[in-house]
Amino acid sequence: MVDILGRSRTHVRLLDMVSAAATHDVEVLIQGPSGVGKELYARLIHERSQRAAHAFIPVNCGALPAELFENELFGHQSGAFTGARTRTQGLVAEAEHGTLFLDEVDALPLSAQVKLLRFIQQKEYRPLGASRMQHSDVRIIAATNTDLLQEARAGHFRFDLFFRLRVVPLEVPPLSERPEDIAPLLEHFLLRYAAEYGRPTVTFSDAALERLYTYPWPGNVRELENCARFLLCAHGGARVDVSDLPLLPEPRREPPPADAVVPAWREPFQEAKRRVVEAFERAYLQESLVAHAGNIAAAARASGKHRRAFFELMRRHGLTER
Ligand SMILES: Nc1ncnc2c1ncn2[C@@H]1O[C@H](COP(=O)(O)OP(=O)(O)OP(=O)(O)O)[C@@H](O)[C@H]1O
Ligand SMILES: [Mg+2]
Repeated sequence: MVDILGRSRTHVRLLDMVSAAATHDVEVLIQGPSGVGKELYARLIHERSQRAAHAFIPVNCGALPAELFENELFGHQSGAFTGARTRTQGLVAEAEHGTLFLDEVDALPLSAQVKLLRFIQQKEYRPLGASRMQHSDVRIIAATNTDLLQEARAGHFRFDLFFRLRVVPLEVPPLSERPEDIAPLLEHFLLRYAAEYGRPTVTFSDAALERLYTYPWPGNVRELENCARFLLCAHGGARVDVSDLPLLPEPRREPPPADAVVPAWREPFQEAKRRVVEAFERAYLQESLVAHAGNIAAAARASGKHRRAFFELMRRHGLTER
């Protein structure tokens, strides 16, 4: 069973798209940075589709040498080439009636892209060395952590294939753009690994929690998951402080230090005021989000601001999804 957690608006919107994609047997293109859960979304679509009883076959296109693409996907007949003694079925045949998940699809060389496009359009392929075309019934879901449109514009990816794959586009944004998902995910992973490792879970100091909720998570959900595993292995049963967290040093812009916040009389009044207000807003938002465990609606309510205005302010400070 695929378990996808979250409570951000983005998460809810993605689940709606998953439902839509699951009921219609069309191609899906999942885009997003590494570790955001692209494969998990692909599996969920498969699980909820009419193909659920059949196989879900992931293919890492980035790890497939160009010359092996056809053989891996379509298989070969014995004697097709030196060393091909027996008939080997390809991944497409393994995925029959199920789903073929083409991960890192951007990495396919142009020659393989042509073959893939033809296969998707005709739903037929010819195993290497075979004389007959073979019919196939598979659903294609592709994923990439590049901007595939940009790749197409740069001439690295065929436009026709891009549009053929992108019938349902699913954009999974980085965790830093949906901070509301951090708390439920953290809780989920702590519970899961506490059970798996048979260790009591951890508790957090306020400072550690604040750090977890405001850290930009460059490795996204995968990094958060590994963080939870580490904490249970190293600190199971204990109270975790900031210095125990296995987080990377932050290159991100911090609010200006306190003395820079004091308006310098040398500076033009408007400029100094703008800087102070900005620093105040950012600190206010961060602190109130931490206090409400990333729940934007609750933080907005407590601040006395309208939810939309609060959200807009978060957006201006780069604290939420676009
Ligand atoms: N919303 C979520 N709920 C629960 N687990 C999640 C969620 N999103 C991601 N994960 C977990 O995070 C890890 C990374 O997810 P996944 O492998 O699907 O990422 P990806 O986008 O395919 O990354 P990459 O581009 O590096 O392959 C997995 O262990 C997955 O189970
Ligand atoms: Mg993946």
